Amino acid sequence: MLSGKDETTDALTRTVQLRTKMMALLAALTIFSAVLMPIADSADADVPWCYHDPICNDTIWISRPYGVCNGTRQSPINIETAKVKGDSNLTAFSFTGFDNNSTMKKIKNTGKTVKVDFADGLMSVSGGGLPNTFNSLQFHLHWGNGSSSPGSEHTVDDKRYPMELHIVNLNSKFNGDIAQIVEDSEGIAALGFFIEATNEPGPESWKTLTKYLSNLTHAGDYANITDHISVDELLVGVDRTRYYRYLGSLTTPKCQEAVVWTVFKDTVKVNKDLIDLFSTTIFVNSSSNSPLMTNVYRNIVPTNNRVVTSQPAPAPASAVSKTSSTVVLLFFAMLSLLHMG
Ligand SMILES: *[C@@H]1O[C@H](CO)[C@@H](O)[C@H](O)[C@H]1NC(C)=O
Ligand SMILES: *[C@@H]1O[C@H](CO)[C@@H](O)[C@H](O)[C@H]1NC(C)=O
Ligand SMILES: *[C@@H]1O[C@H](CO)[C@@H](O)[C@H](O)[C@H]1NC(C)=O
Ligand SMILES: *[C@@H]1O[C@H](CO)[C@@H](O)[C@H](O)[C@H]1NC(C)=O
Ligand SMILES: *[C@@H]1O[C@H](CO)[C@@H](O)[C@H](O)[C@H]1NC(C)=O
Ligand SMILES: *[C@@H]1O[C@H](CO)[C@@H](O)[C@H](O)[C@H]1NC(C)=O
Ligand SMILES: *[C@@H]1O[C@H](CO)[C@@H](O)[C@H](O)[C@H]1NC(C)=O
Ligand SMILES: *[C@@H]1O[C@H](CO)[C@@H](O)[C@H](O)[C@H]1NC(C)=O
Ligand SMILES: *[C@@H]1O[C@H](CO)[C@@H](O)[C@H](O)[C@H]1NC(C)=O
Ligand SMILES: [Zn+2]
Repeated sequence: MLSGKDETTDALTRTVQLRTKMMALLAALTIFSAVLMPIADSADADVPWCYHDPICNDTIWISRPYGVCNGTRQSPINIETAKVKGDSNLTAFSFTGFDNNSTMKKIKNTGKTVKVDFADGLMSVSGGGLPNTFNSLQFHLHWGNGSSSPGSEHTVDDKRYPMELHIVNLNSKFNGDIAQIVEDSEGIAALGFFIEATNEPGPESWKTLTKYLSNLTHAGDYANITDHISVDELLVGVDRTRYYRYLGSLTTPKCQEAVVWTVFKDTVKVNKDLIDLFSTTIFVNSSSNSPLMTNVYRNIVPTNNRVVTSQPAPAPASAVSKTSSTVVLLFFAMLSLLHMG
């Protein structure tokens, strides 16, 4: 999710939904396309989309007005670990400002997620096999319905995790020009972190962050972040040299195929009750009968012919030395046999 047009999107979603309620399915479909076409044609307008209403959920996104969600390089995918290929270019990242505890400015209920905006120019990421330096813009979260009903976007060998945190970073060569960035095949570097539930208290940083949720109940609500938390503190427990890499897309319309994806193997372990707060505190709109925000993730899409890469299998050196010590042992065994004989 990139834009700040969530409110417009919600207003449009409402209009569309009200109309459908009043019409038969066929009539509704006609109006649906009539309402959407002009939006798709305007330069920077988003289309109304949602996660659950059958009229705008991810089954529908593959239709043209929603962008390129039916492309062949889409996200999220199921990572099949048996098919992952080693790539020695996937070295360590260099993170700038991730240790600064005053880069998070604002936390917001966008109607689709909870998003934290970073202050301009303080955070960036490079290395890690990325083609350039990428400036960090925001992070947001995807979740299911409580810690026992998982809602990560990527899955690993079909396992879905309770939550997934996405840090969105923009290729610095475009100087923040979003229109150009989403048209470039390497415009965005997204960093995905799985969040697992623990009964332990977990990191204090998550307690601090989730304190804000009670001020974000309605879509459009936001809070200024006054606490000092760093991104590093939110990501404790993750060895950031171990990750999967593949080329994909934004996971929300218009699903532009502009993303170099990094999905880290280790998980962040967050207290179960804090995870549950997301699906029990945040509402999708500001009406009194608004549903809670639950299951905010796109379903997985085909990998097609893409290859997921990762760090090469470790230490061929130790394999060699094991083999040679076996040879040495065999040699001595034979030697002693000869002596006995
Ligand atoms: C999305 O809508 C389709 C019908 O268009 C429905 O079959 C599907 O179950 C819905 N998916 C979700 C996640 O709500
Ligand atoms: C996606 O949809 C567009 C318009 O409906 C179509 O032209 C295009 O071929 C589709 N692409 C794929 C990969 O299905
Ligand atoms: C590593 O990067 C080099 C230079 O960009 C490239 O030529 C090579 O194909 C990459 N290796 C793999 C395994 O992708
Ligand atoms: C940390 O962020 C603040 C802005 O909130 C900035 O003033 C400060 O220079 C940053 N610290 C470093 C070491 O970059
Ligand atoms: C989420 O879980 C709650 C409590 O377990 C349940 O009442 C509710 O129906 C669930 N919501 C969805 C959308 O599945
Ligand atoms: C939530 O909002 C109230 C009232 O505006 C404010 O006093 C409080 O500081 C806010 N809480 C947080 C965690 O920002
Ligand atoms: C956030 O801070 C700005 C000033 O920096 C202030 O105008 C605004 O009212 C604050 N918003 C909230 C929700 O506290
Ligand atoms: C934030 O970082 C500053 C500078 O590194 C440090 O002095 C301060 O104690 C930190 N605050 C918190 C709450 O960690
Ligand atoms: C809020 O969202 C629900 C579910 O999508 C919808 O039925 C309802 O009409 C929405 N209300 C408003 C005021 O947008
Ligand atoms: Zn995301």
